[in-house]
Parts: sequence; C-alpha cells; structure tokens
Amino acid sequence: MELKKILPYLIVLLVFGSLLMFYTAFDKKTKTLVPDKLMNVLTFQDPANSFKEFNKVFALAAIGIISIVFLMGPLSKLFPAKFGHFLYMRKTLGIIGFGIAALHAIYSFIEFYKFSLVLMFIENAKFIGIVSATVSLLIFFIMTATSTKNMMVKLGYKKWKLIQTFGYVALALALLHFYLYETKPDIGLDVRPFGMLFFYLPIAALLLRVIIIFMKTPEHKTFEEHMGEKPANLGEKTV
Ligand code: HEM
Repeated sequence: MELKKILPYLIVLLVFGSLLMFYTAFDKKTKTLVPDKLMNVLTFQDPANSFKEFNKVFALAAIGIISIVFLMGPLSKLFPAKFGHFLYMRKTLGIIGFGIAALHAIYSFIEFYKFSLVLMFIENAKFIGIVSATVSLLIFFIMTATSTKNMMVKLGYKKWKLIQTFGYVALALALLHFYLYETKPDIGLDVRPFGMLFFYLPIAALLLRVIIIFMKTPEHKTFEEHMGEKPANLGEKTV
C-alpha cells in the first residue's frame, strides 16, 4: 500500500502509542514511567480505572490530532516546500479527530453526567468548561459534515472556507475546556508531563494562525488548493 495513503493512520497510531507509553504509564507519585501501570490499564485489572484512563487518552488524542490538522495550514503557508504536500491529510485526520472527540464526549456524558443534561449543565461547577466543550464539538461536527467537495460546491468556496476557518474558534474553546477541567484550585493545571504536550499543540496552532493573519500570506482560492490536491497560486497576494 502507498505510504501517502496510510500516513494519516500512522500518525493516529503514533499519537495513541505515545500517549499510552508516556502518559498512561506515568506514575505521579514516583514521577517515573511504570510499565506495570500501563499493563494494568491495558488488561483491565480495575475496569473503572481503565475506562477512565482510556477516556483521558481519547480526549488528549482528539485535541492533539485536531491541532495537527490546524497546524498544517499555517505551516504550509510559511514553508510551502516542506509542508505543502501534507495538506492532503487534513480531511482524514480531521474526521478521525472529530470521531475520537465524539467518543470522549459520549463516554463522559454517560459516565460523569449519567445521561442528565441537568447534571451536565445546571449542577456543574465547571459550567464554562462544559459549554465551551459542547460548542467546540458542535463546530467540529459542522466542519466534518461539510468537509466534502460536494458540500463546498453547494455552499460556495467563500462560505465553505469561513466554516473551516471557524474551526480555530472551536480549537480555542476545546483548549479552554481542557484548561478548566484539569485545573485544581490548590495546584493549578494538573496534567502529567507528556499530557502537557497536548496542551501546547493547540496553543502553537492558534499562535501560528495569528502570525499568518498578520503576515497576509496568499489565501487558498479553491477546494483543490485547500486540500493540497493542487499547488496554491503563491503569486497572488491577498489584501
Ligand atoms: C460535550 C462534549 C464534551 C464533554 C461532555 C467532555 C467532558 C470531559 C470531562 C468530564 C473531562 C474530565 C475527564 C477526567 O478528568 O477524567 C474532560 C477532559 C478533557 N476533555 Fe472533554 N468533553 C467534551 C468535549 C471535548 C472536546 C471536543 C475535546 C477536544 C477536542 C475535549 C478534550 C478534553 C481534554 C484534552 C481533556 C483533559 C484530559 C486529561 O488531561 O485528563 N473534550 N472532558
């Protein structure tokens, strides 16, 4: 099979594999990697703990993969020769990232809020954290549902591009959700060291996007350019 086709799936495997090895296996007390801890989770020694750990891995993988998707646009504009040919992966990785985020949301809705919107929204001390998560998931859903060329033709490129660009708002909201949910009043942001990488990835994607706005780099003008199926016309500057 062609490497180009399987590369997005290899990236997903790499994200999950690295999270299991360096995040799940990390012991907060000894601050070391403990392979037995990972084995206990993988073999469901304590099923409730395994599900909780997998949910955390899914949440981190989702924000990580979605951030990679959002990093590709700005990076391909700053370094077209190096990153331009990776743009084709955005659609596949975006759909997978959304799917993983949706699984995390569904599991959390069942496990933490017992199918209750009252528990989730009204009796939730982290109200802003859950509203930002819900709005972010909704925007990612709209982006995924409109990610095909058919939808682009129906909406027109400008409207379609606006929806895709709105994804940065969703990413910022997901980051806010991450921050608010993992911040403890006495210790602040409490995430295992490798998990922090998944906190900095969306920040990097958002910062790069701001840099691109200020640099006024040429915009993609067609679906094919956006998807990396055709090189962008770099001769035309936007105003
Ligand atoms: C309605 C939608 C969502 C719900 C109900 C939800 C619920 C939760 C809950 C309950 C936690 C705490 C889990 C724990 O500490 O064990 C959490 C953490 C987290 N969520 Fe969500 N979430 C939603 C959407 C999202 C989305 C869209 C993303 C990203 C794309 C996301 C990323 C994260 C991350 C990164 C964490 C921190 C994981 C960790 O370090 O332990 N969530 N979420």
